Amino acid sequence: MQISQDFSLKNYNSFGIDVKADRFISVRNLEDLRVILRKTYASELFILGGGSNMLLTGDIHKTVVHIGIKGKEIISKTEDDVLVRAAAGENWHNFVMWTLEQDYGGLENLSLIPGNVGTAPIQNIGAYGVELKDSFVSCHTMNIQTLEEREFNLAECEFGYRNSIFKNQLKGQYIITAVNFRLTKRDHSLHTEYGSIRTELESRKIQSPTIKDISDAVIAIRQSKLPDPKHLGNSGSFFKNPLISAEQFEKIKQEYPGVPSYHVSDELIKVPAGWLIEKAGLKGYREGDAGVHRNQALVLVNYGEATGQEIWALAEKIREEVHEKFDIRLEPEVNII
Ligand code: EPU
Repeated sequence: MQISQDFSLKNYNSFGIDVKADRFISVRNLEDLRVILRKTYASELFILGGGSNMLLTGDIHKTVVHIGIKGKEIISKTEDDVLVRAAAGENWHNFVMWTLEQDYGGLENLSLIPGNVGTAPIQNIGAYGVELKDSFVSCHTMNIQTLEEREFNLAECEFGYRNSIFKNQLKGQYIITAVNFRLTKRDHSLHTEYGSIRTELESRKIQSPTIKDISDAVIAIRQSKLPDPKHLGNSGSFFKNPLISAEQFEKIKQEYPGVPSYHVSDELIKVPAGWLIEKAGLKGYREGDAGVHRNQALVLVNYGEATGQEIWALAEKIREEVHEKFDIRLEPEVNII
């Protein structure tokens, strides 16, 4: 195990922010993880997964432990489904592609989401009508303080919209080391109801899509709207889509009859934050190297040398302007560090 000092994290966060870690180590297996946890105080640790859901606003004066544990395996099979385990350090999209190569269904709508397997449950990643929790069985974890290993089942993870127990009561206490998924071998349950998937499949003249067709459609939609972090630093959706009251929604609708929305309950409506930002006039807005993406206003981008603080200043401006115009407070979806 090699510990590097004053290590630049530029290649380890999808925003491409150039901050330094006092110490950096990438662990490849559970044994190395145990060794480093044993010799470092919990308060001195910073656990890093795929780095795709964070905004680094300054140097990290801690030991950054990058979870690079790899591996995927089939645990058991029935006629209908399969239990698959992926280690935390597997790249999420590569894992999804692997499941599709075996014709295992369940993760196709989650194609091309940046990040690693181990961090996917923390915010219950979701896209196009499907969330990680829909195929999730359990995750293996290690307690940062006691080094005790514990498996969390679906109920124990308390998944919600971009949320889980690992973002709340247990924040910073456990490291996810592997995730188990139940995937279908036949009679896949397809989720094509999300508007843009249907349109994409229609334009491809596909009437009875396979899981691979759905994945291809999702990839095409994402590529058309969302910037690739390899070329333009970003962290996907920067804000959560806010929930507002039916009453407040009616007010917005009077001025904008076409406002998009998702019905959550009779009292609560979810409105796309990207739409609110666009209507506040900020789509494509840029301040230095920090910008609002021109195809999807919910995504903030780093055009090159932006600092985390500059991106955060832009986020604050967006929050203020959306609040002023719609009386809605946007909450970040990414972790601000
Ligand atoms: N819209 C605009 N202007 C914009 C962006 C969006 O008017 O600049 C409108 C769209 O026209 C559409 C609606 O807002 O009517 C929804 O847009 P979209 O389908 O792009 O989805 P979203 O609600 O903005 C969410 C997730 C994405 C996920 C997509 C698809 C959140 C915070 N974001 O975005 O997740 O890919 O749905 O399911 O829930 C991520 O978490 O990083 C992420 C990309």
